Amino acid sequence: MKDLAGRVALITGAGSGIGRGTAMALGARGVRIIAADIDEAGTGQTVMEILAAGGEAEAIRCDVGVDGPLDLARDLALKRFGRLDILMNNVGVIINGRPEDIPIAEWQRIFNLNFFSVIRATHAVIPHFLAQGSGHIVNTASIAGLYPYAYDRTPYAASKAALISYSENLAIYLKPQGVGVTCLCPGPVATQIRKSNVSWTDGLPTHGPGDQFGRMDPRDVGEMVCDAIVADRFFLPTDDQVLPILVDHARDIDAYLAAELRRWE
Ligand SMILES: NC(=O)c1ccc[n+]([C@@H]2O[C@H](COP(=O)([O-])OP(=O)(O)OC[C@H]3O[C@@H](n4cnc5c(N)ncnc54)[C@H](O)[C@@H]3O)[C@@H](O)[C@H]2O)c1
Repeated sequence: MKDLAGRVALITGAGSGIGRGTAMALGARGVRIIAADIDEAGTGQTVMEILAAGGEAEAIRCDVGVDGPLDLARDLALKRFGRLDILMNNVGVIINGRPEDIPIAEWQRIFNLNFFSVIRATHAVIPHFLAQGSGHIVNTASIAGLYPYAYDRTPYAASKAALISYSENLAIYLKPQGVGVTCLCPGPVATQIRKSNVSWTDGLPTHGPGDQFGRMDPRDVGEMVCDAIVADRFFLPTDDQVLPILVDHARDIDAYLAAELRRWE
């Protein structure tokens, strides 16, 4: 999508963190924003900041965990701004615990919010993008879905791996029809995501992706998303260190896992 100015974007999880950072970055490039979130104070703040910077935006309370609200968010974009060009599926929540301590209902909740919410949104928006012959979908996954580095957040990592696979196959389907797909795979970003954490194993330490990663500013991630949409780029890791790790993992998965096991000895 070469020109961003005048476009309209629907962003879920836009009340905080990466969603807000991307809403601000797109807003500054002339994209009109529908900021969707369950946190109305958060989206109110996002909209206020976009308006203060000279952009256009509107908030909608939207729970991506149930059927219906995403259809209303799509309809709001079409009614308020007369078009919809970009969908960013960005809601994600975390969980901590040994795999066997996490109840099945919690596994389902994490997959519902991190993965099935994206299916709901793409169901709501794909027919519109296909009919107009253009559009762009950004799915926020994580480096946690690219290669293993921790056993204490397996539902999160597995839901992000599912999202990466879904995004790749979706890109093959949509690209020939004029619709781009970007899979954002952030490393650590300074956001409120820890507030969503539920812990199911007392005292279990949370393993990080490695000390080599710094915590990025969400607005910088937003700028990278803007550039990826313009360049029609699919794979968007936020850190240059990710690709060599990914290559290492793909070359010999058994050796990679053995090295990870040694890291936690
Ligand atoms: N922060 C990181 O280090 C990091 C790293 C990799 C990937 N990510 C991913 O980035 C995305 C954004 O997370 P963030 O770090 O900005 O977190 P955040 O908690 O700051 O923002 C997430 C937003 O999602 C909203 N939300 C939660 N449940 C919702 C629901 N049911 N319906 C609608 N909105 C809901 C929250 O209210 C919040 O505003 C997530 O998918 C996350 O997995 C984050």
